[in-house]
Parts: sequence; structure tokens; C-alpha cells
Amino acid sequence: KMPEMIQLVIFGGTGDLSRSKLIPGLYKLYKRNSLPDQLSILGLARSFSSRKAYLQSLEQSLKEENPEIYTKESWNNFKEYLDYLQMDFTEDIGYNKLYHHLNDQEGNQAGRHCIYYLATAPEFFPMITENLKEHRLSKSREPGWPRLVIEKPFGYSLSSARDYNSQICQVFPEENVYRIDHYLGKEMIQNILTMRFANMFFEPIWNKHYIDNIQIVSTETSGIKTRGKYYDNAGALRDMVQSHLLQMLALITMESPADMSTESIRQEKIKLLKTLADSPSLGDLRDNLVIGQYKSGIIGDRTVPGYQDEDNIASNSRTETFAAVKLNINNLRWRGVPFYLKTGKRLHKKSAKIYVQFKDDFHPALSKDKNPEANLLIIKIQPEEGVSMQFNAKEPGSQDKITSVFMDFCQQAPDLQNTPEAYEELLLALFKGDQSLFTHWDGVKNSWLYIDKLRDYIEANRLEPEKYNPGSNGPTSSEEMLNRDGRRWWDEEEFNANT
Ligand code: BG6
Repeated sequence: KMPEMIQLVIFGGTGDLSRSKLIPGLYKLYKRNSLPDQLSILGLARSFSSRKAYLQSLEQSLKEENPEIYTKESWNNFKEYLDYLQMDFTEDIGYNKLYHHLNDQEGNQAGRHCIYYLATAPEFFPMITENLKEHRLSKSREPGWPRLVIEKPFGYSLSSARDYNSQICQVFPEENVYRIDHYLGKEMIQNILTMRFANMFFEPIWNKHYIDNIQIVSTETSGIKTRGKYYDNAGALRDMVQSHLLQMLALITMESPADMSTESIRQEKIKLLKTLADSPSLGDLRDNLVIGQYKSGIIGDRTVPGYQDEDNIASNSRTETFAAVKLNINNLRWRGVPFYLKTGKRLHKKSAKIYVQFKDDFHPALSKDKNPEANLLIIKIQPEEGVSMQFNAKEPGSQDKITSVFMDFCQQAPDLQNTPEAYEELLLALFKGDQSLFTHWDGVKNSWLYIDKLRDYIEANRLEPEKYNPGSNGPTSSEEMLNRDGRRWWDEEEFNANT
């Protein structure tokens, strides 16, 4: 149940995240009539001296970045929710101002039904939470309140993540902390467990006896945009694999939870990530890990700069903009099944999909010379949402030819405008206090443990990222990694269907 009055307090109210995701997400929820009845959104920033100037600037960004959803009339109504406080969150005095501001709100005491959204760089998380505590903003008599929302990156390694976490934990208990991984808000990722556990024809064969391999792929065509400073310290393993790809892996491979409660699902995901992190050996990483970096080149009719020429990148940077990794999950269900994960910037298409390839255990008379294709289940996360199945059938009109056919299920609502975006779903869950779309510290910890092992290997061997052309499939070593196993990347295939 939602309380009567919710105060959403955004630290970093003028930053990129607020402009490109939070405000548009809230605005869309408003247009869907889904905002809590009584909500006040308070943007905190140093740069604007008045609410009017702040709102003008947000409106401008929305108009430019999301022209398809903007209308003057609905913005004018929506902006009634928005408030602004000029404050420097690195200074003590700002928090006094905040305390008084929140206490002034009718029916609301500071901290009571507040959601503090830290849309700032992670190094400020401990300082902000400490200040919230010092200024009596972090306490409430009601369990579950106030809430703290933190964006990724949550650290750069296990040790920095642990530092942030232990400082945050001293102020906010785990059940009040909402760690964002925006992939968990995506429609088809939320659908994974329903598909797995509400279908008799998936769960019984969801194991090493029937599955040959699983590929989890999220590729992008864009480069690092203006985020050089952050990205050069991160790279694809920390930026994408540690969070989004491992969360998808956990949902695809976890055991069946005792029930569908947040707690039970989280426990199973944590167990899975722990199995991954505890793996005594990751195999010979020389064969199981490929990193790459994009060169300059031409995409369409545009010349794009190479990674090294982007702004704020160290000269001769060895940061990877591409990563492909092969891993195993050493438990009874999955032992021996290879999982291939791949992500990269400036690749040939923007796409996120999970490919489940079943074993080729066909009748010998039908496999010989007839070249049946693999049975494949494709979970399409973006840009299309849905599921495709590739299977073998008799070619119509012929006696003995086999042809592979597709069955397609499209999850998207016919009116694309209505398809909720990840942030809308996350914000709704946040208002409701539903933590199932957010990550638990124990899961985050185990993902970092695994990523640290890969990073350590890269550093110990001074692995250089392999250069690749923009608009390509990435480094050729990534294809070789699968070819050595007699397999291929399914995202690089041209299918006849809308996959
Ligand atoms: C973010 C990464 O978490 O996810 C970005 O920091 C990346 O580098 C983005 O571009 C991809 O998200 P999506 O939803 O566009 O696949």
C-alpha cells in the first residue's frame, strides 16, 4: 500500500540521468495516470537559482530528447509535481536547508515517506548518506522508510563496492536500499521467470541433458558518447557484464524459487551468482575471454572516432569496449554447459537477446544429409520484445527435405508508445516498495567477485584489447572462441524471421 504522501528527493537533479531517464519516466507515468496520488518531486542542484529556471531547463531537455511524448498542456500539469531546492550536497548547510524544506511540506516530516534518489557519481554515495544521518533525515518510525536509491556503477571492484556498501548500511538497512539495474525493469527480462516456470515445455528440459549452450548478448551501435571520464575507468566488463549480463544469466539459470516472493527469487539469484563466483577455476581464460576496443571508421555515411580519440580517454588506454566470455556454472543442473556472454559498443546493431540452443539429438535417419538446424529459443529483449522458436519441419511439398521454421511471439503492445520503458517500471516498483526489480548486496558482491577474477587475469597478463572496426561483429577472436567449440554466435546469423 502506498502512503498518502511521497517525497521523491533527487540528488543530481540537473544531471544527465535526471534529464534523460528520471524526468521522462515520471512524466510518462503521469500521462499513464500511474503516479501516486500525492507525490512531490524535489530536484536538488547547485546550478539554478529558482524553481522557474530549473523547470524551464527540464522542459527544454524533454522537448529535445523526447519530442514524441511532450505536449505543452500535459507538461504544465505535470510540473505541479516538481519542486526545486538549490543546494550543494557537499556542504553541511545544504542538509539543514533540506531538513527544513521537507518538514515544511504539509503532513510530511523529514524522512518519513522520503525516497532519496542518488543520481550522482558513486563516490558521493557515502558522503550523502552520512549527511542524511547527521541531519536526522534517515530515520523513520515506519518500517521500510525512508528509501535510498542508488544508481550503478556500484563501485569499480569488490573492495570499492564493499566500502560503499558498508557505509551505506550503517545508515540504511538493506530492506530500504534500492540498487538500480535498469535491465531488471525491461519487460522481457521480467518475463523470464514466468516463461520458465509457467510452461511445461520449458522447465523439464532446462538443464545440461537437453541444452547445448546459452548465449547472452547485448550489443550497441553507439560509442561511449560523452562519458569518457567514467568509461575509461570502467570498460565493458564492469559497465555491462557485472550488472546487466550477469543479472540475465542469474534469471535464466537459477533454480526454481520456493515461491515468487521477492525474497525467494533474490535468494535463488544470489545462490547462482555465488556458484559462479566460487568456481575453483574459470578454465584457461586465454581461451575463454576476449576483449576489444573500437577503432575509428565509417558507419553508414558517417566517420566515427576511435575509442582512443574520444574525449577524456587516457592516451594508449587499454580499456575494453567489447567483451566476450565463456563461463560454466558448476552445479548439478548446468555442469558442462557453456554460457557465452557478449557485449560491446560500436557494433553492427543495437540488440539484446538470449539464445538457448538445444542439443542436436535427432533421429539418425533425419540428421544425415538433411542438415536439420538447431532447435533454438530466442528471448528478444530489445529492440523487439518477444520470443522466437526455431525448429525443424518437413519442407512443404517435398518428400524428404527438412526446413527450419520460426514461430514468433511478439510481446509488444500494438501501440508502441504504451510499452513501458525500464525506468517507468522501476519507478513504479520503487513507489510500491517492491524490491524484486532491484539488486541485493549479496548478488552484487558475488558478481564483483567474478568480474575481479577476470580483471585480475587481464592485468596479470597485460592483455591488450583487440582492435575492431566500428559497425562490425567485434574482434575476430570472439568468433574463433566459439568456432573452437564447433559453435557460432547466433546474433551474427541472418534469420528469415523477425529475430
Ligand atoms: C548502461 C551502461 O548501464 O547500460 C551504458 O552504463 C549502456 O554504457 C547502457 O549504454 C545500455 O542500456 P540499454 O538499455 O540501452 O541496453
